[in-house]
Amino acid sequence: MVHSPSSARTFEASLHNACSMTAPTSLFRPYDKMVKITLLGREVEVPENNTFLRCLQFLAPGSVSCGRFCWNEDCQYCPVTYDLGGGTDAPAALACKLLVEEGIRVKEVTTEITHCLRGIRT
Ligand code: FES
Repeated sequence: MVHSPSSARTFEASLHNACSMTAPTSLFRPYDKMVKITLLGREVEVPENNTFLRCLQFLAPGSVSCGRFCWNEDCQYCPVTYDLGGGTDAPAALACKLLVEEGIRVKEVTTEITHCLRGIRT
């Protein structure tokens, strides 16, 4: 499924309405467009200018919001490996700190992330 920025914002608004624990401000950093990334072999579109973990929350809002993530480098539940294609290196990074960019290919995720992606919407 392809998400336009306006449909993404509509989704974002419905997420806020559905979750009474969410502050009235946006969960997401400001973005003007969606970028295509590859997540474990599946192409998905996520909001630019956001961390990979926040993008996972965009894709699977209920489960990632309830995950055991600290969002600040303490828990170590979010390491991923990724590359940018074309035989580039596959470094490890924390999903809560890694900013997505067009074409990024996330190849390995933790058990916690895998668990959260059960209901992913693509
Ligand atoms: S969410 Fe805890 S280290 Fe990334």
